[in-house]
Formats: sequence, structure tokens, C-alpha cells
Amino acid sequence: MKLLEAIACASALMPLAAADWQFKSRTDLAPPRLNITIPATKDVEQGYLFVAPFPGQWAEPQFHGPRQEAPYIVRDDGELVWSGYTYFSIWAANFQKARWNGQDVLFSFEGDHNPAYGHGHGHATILNQHYETIRELRAGNHKLMDKHEFHVVDEKTALLQVYQPVPKDLSRFGGSAEQQWIVDAIFQELDIQTGELLFEWSSLDHVSPDGKFIFILIYLSNLLIGFLVEAVLPLNPGQAGAGWNSSDAWDYFHINSVDKDTAGNYLISARDACAVHKINGTTGDIIWRLGGVRSDFELGPNVKFCFQHHARFVEQSGDEEIISLFDNSAHGTENHRGKEVHTHPFSQGKVISVNTATWTAEIVQAFQPPDGLLAKSQGSTQLLPNGNALVNWGSEGAVTEFRADGTPIFHAYMDSGLLGEGVQNYRAFRYNWTGLPTEEPAIVAEKTSTGTTVYVSWNGDTETAIWRFYAITDRFGSRAFLGETARDGFETSFSLSGHSYHSLAAEAVSAAGRVLTTTRATRVEGVVLPLYEPENGKLDRGTWVQAVLRG
Ligand SMILES: *[C@@H]1O[C@H](CO)[C@@H](O)[C@H](O)[C@H]1NC(C)=O
Ligand SMILES: *[C@@H]1O[C@H](CO)[C@@H](O)[C@H](O)[C@H]1NC(C)=O
Ligand SMILES: *[C@@H]1O[C@H](CO)[C@@H](O)[C@H](O)[C@H]1NC(C)=O
Ligand SMILES: *[C@@H]1O[C@H](CO)[C@@H](O)[C@H](O)[C@H]1NC(C)=O
Repeated sequence: MKLLEAIACASALMPLAAADWQFKSRTDLAPPRLNITIPATKDVEQGYLFVAPFPGQWAEPQFHGPRQEAPYIVRDDGELVWSGYTYFSIWAANFQKARWNGQDVLFSFEGDHNPAYGHGHGHATILNQHYETIRELRAGNHKLMDKHEFHVVDEKTALLQVYQPVPKDLSRFGGSAEQQWIVDAIFQELDIQTGELLFEWSSLDHVSPDGKFIFILIYLSNLLIGFLVEAVLPLNPGQAGAGWNSSDAWDYFHINSVDKDTAGNYLISARDACAVHKINGTTGDIIWRLGGVRSDFELGPNVKFCFQHHARFVEQSGDEEIISLFDNSAHGTENHRGKEVHTHPFSQGKVISVNTATWTAEIVQAFQPPDGLLAKSQGSTQLLPNGNALVNWGSEGAVTEFRADGTPIFHAYMDSGLLGEGVQNYRAFRYNWTGLPTEEPAIVAEKTSTGTTVYVSWNGDTETAIWRFYAITDRFGSRAFLGETARDGFETSFSLSGHSYHSLAAEAVSAAGRVLTTTRATRVEGVVLPLYEPENGKLDRGTWVQAVLRG
């Protein structure tokens, strides 16, 4: 094969990160187009949406899910604020805002993604308000950080978790001599600045499948699933791995979230135990279990959850503790591999009150999906300052904001048309955010039939209120003011009549009237006018400027 043919062949097989002509000033960007089925009412909480949608594993992934999978900050009307495309390499998820060392930061998991097992190996990347990387944090103790959790505590430390494959005799769980690998679900607390490991907890130390505890037979989905301690998915047939090798290790517990309360105790969500555990922050002992086959609480109506995500402490007073979580009630892989397990017809965001005097748990509020969505993987429930809740439907690629009473007041799918099919999003959040990009704004100017239109955008900027436009009147950059317009969304356009603007620039002005930045000069496409040359020009500069502005 000749070299050129080889190159043509290789590029035909490559999924292209195709641009889609949404912005004149940024033809390179192709952010997802939200499919908003319930437009935001005035009751939604203030702030932007933080999402990181990615495609499902279709036969032709380039045609499904976002063209440019990445973290995004978007408005309720779907308008782009920041495209994080190429800011994180490989694969990114769990994109959030946090406060660290007294400053507002963004963070995201970035790394390798294994959708068949729902694991990821990578690190957390922290950006400042200028979208510059200021820290990368890896797990401690020579372990690989997983994608599910990164949670900043007290502006100083981070909670994260690790799926550590370890060899073990699994014969009592129906394993053959070759099925020897189990996942030790570990979580860690680290100092973000120094990386120092402050606390580490291992599921195999506390939730043992060794037979130290009672063995329980349970029925699920009319399926006899085996002899286990807390695990809901048995070793065989292997929905959570069948232990044949380290990448197929049996994920009997699967921690997917970690939180810490003011008393220093932890809350973990163990998806494959269908339970949330409170852990003593000093000893690592289990204080209580909510849900699953060994619940310490009697569950009131609609408290029961399974395969849940994102358990968070909400508040505590006396014997009562309030927690929130996302109840998937379904288990399946992100790439449709293997059999799905369902425990309820639809997923729900839940706020649950547990009482450690009466050992009962009651539902405080459930948030039910507008389209009966059942998320077989992923998901989150964020309680907002005004009492609303933002629920993200994981594998279903949708997000809903609810009023405190459970009424949906905003619902959107993460992309539209074919790209909306199979799109997924691990977690979604709403935050206020001030973005001050260091990169310069992008500007283009186009000739139209009646004049000239200028387009300007500044990826990630939240502060520009007005764009001012100028004609560049000589090669030294002298400028003449042409007009101004309120900033629209990601891209703002400004139209001028007449064709003779040779070179234009724009200035970003804040709501307080401060000039934030000035673009470089852009030549108007299709117009060629000589630059003002004072040394050999016949026109004096003033006359030349008049001629340019008159057109
Ligand atoms: C690990 O085991 C799984 C399940 O049997 C198999 O599909 C996979 O190819 C194995 N991987 C390796 C690296 O042997
Ligand atoms: C955690 O363990 C310590 C040491 O045994 C004990 O003093 C403390 O009361 C425990 N905390 C809770 C909330 O059980
Ligand atoms: C938006 O989502 C709804 C509900 O899933 C679907 O019926 C509709 O076709 C979608 N529209 C677009 C443009 O993708
Ligand atoms: C954003 O800021 C406003 C004004 O301070 C506040 O009311 C709102 O709760 C904040 N939104 C979020 C998501 O924190």
C-alpha cells in the first residue's frame, strides 16, 4: 500500500471530532445541543449547569452522544458558557466547582474509562478561575484513583476511592479454581496540597465475604442469586465481574460515593450492596447500615433503594440524620453488556431521614423522573440552597431540577437528534461561577449583502456584559468606535452597514463598566483595503479614516 493510501485508510477509521458550525468565531467547537423538554421556570436556582456528557458504546460511537465529549458549563437555555473540550485528556467525568484554599476552583476526574465494568483509572485535575491547571491529585499508597468520587472537604482535603483487585479463594461463593479475583473497595482522604494520605478504609477489612458473618439467601428479580454477606450481585453469572482475572475481579461491594460529616465520620454508598454505610472516622468501624440485606433501620414507604449513587450527609440533629442519594433501582453496564437487574420501574432522587433512637428510616422527599427514566448506571442528586433539587439521570443522559415539593421545573436531555441517543452523564451540578479566561477572545468579521457582521466569543468568560466594536484605522492599531451591543450568550454578533471596514476589533466590558480585554484586530473576510501608509500615502490619516468609515 502506498503511504497516501495508508493515511487515507487510517483516517477513514478514525472517529472524527467534527465541528458543527454552531459558532462563527469558534468553528472548531461542537458543544452538545441540550434537548430542553421542560424549559426552566422562574423558580429554578441561580447558577450554571456543570455536566460532562459522553456517548454510549454504540456500534458507531461518532454518530451518537456528544461529538466533543468533555466537561461543559451551560445555561438553563442550553447556551454554552465554557467548553472544556481538550482541557482534559482521555476521558473526563464528575466535573464540579469547589473551594480549595480560599479560592473557587473547577475539578474533574480525567483518565482511562472501562464502561464494561464501570471503573475508571486516573486522577483529579483542578483548574483555577482562569481555566489553568493548578493541581493534579492521584490516590495515595500506590493505588489507582477511580472515576466515581472526588469530594472536597473543608476547602482542604479530598475524598476519593479506589477499586483494588486482589486475589482470593472464592470457592465458597461458587467460584472455580480459576475465579480468584475480588475488588477491595477502598476510600481515601488526602490533603490536596501535599497529597498526604490521611485516612484509608478497605471494604475487605470491614465487609468480609470470608464467612465471618451470617450468610443470607436473597431473591431478586425472581432470580436466586446466591450465598452472600452484603453483596447483591453474586460471583456467577458475573454481572459485577466473575473473578477470572484482575480486570474481571468480582466487584462485590462497589463504593461510588464518599462524604464526611462535621463530626469526622464518613458516609459511603455501596452500590453492589444496595446500602449506605456510616463509618466511624477514627476506627473505620461501621456505625450503621441503611438498606441492603443487613439494614439496621426499618425502612418506611419508598425508602428502599438499590444500586444507588451519590449519598450525601444533609443535616443532623440529635438522633435524626438526613441524607440524600440517587436511587437507580437498576443495574446494567455502561456499554449494554450483560443482563440488567431492575428493582423498581423508575429511578428517583431521594432525601431520607434516619433515626438512630427508633432505628427507622422515612422518606422526606422523592424526586420522580418526568419521562419514567430508569438509569441502569450513574446518577446524582444535588440539594440546592433554595430548597430545589437537581437530579441527574446517569445512563439516560438527562437532568431535572425539582422544586422542594417534587415538581419538575426544568428538564433537559444532554444532546439532540441522533447525538441525543445513547448520551450519558455521570453527575450534574448547579453552581455559581465566575470565569476569567486568560486566553484572548475569538473574533471574525464577515461581509454580508448589506454590510459587515462581526462575531466575538470568549470561552469560559462569565463577566462580559457589553461588547464594544472598533474599526482599526492604521497599522499602528489606532481605532475608531463603531458601536456596542449587550453580550448575548457564548457568541455575540454586531452588524454594520457598508462593506469597507478593513480591520475590526472588539472590547469586552464588565457590568461595572470596566474594560476586561481587547481582541486582536481581525480582517473582514472578502474586503481588501490598503493599510494607511503615512510615509507614502497621498491621503492624510484623517481623510483616510473618514474614507474607511464612510465606506
Ligand atoms: C478477563 O476475563 C474476562 C471474563 O472471562 C475476559 O473476557 C477477558 O478477556 C479476560 N482478560 C484478560 C486480560 O485475560
Ligand atoms: C468512633 O470510635 C471512637 C473510638 O472507639 C468512639 O469514641 C466514638 O464514639 C465512635 N463514634 C461514633 C459516632 O460511633
Ligand atoms: C427531545 O427529547 C424527547 C423526549 O425524549 C424526544 O421525544 C425528542 O425527539 C427529542 N428532540 C430532539 C430534537 O432530540
Ligand atoms: C448563586 O448565588 C445566589 C445569590 O447569592 C444564591 O441565591 C444562589 O443560591 C446561588 N446558587 C447556587 C447554586 O449556589
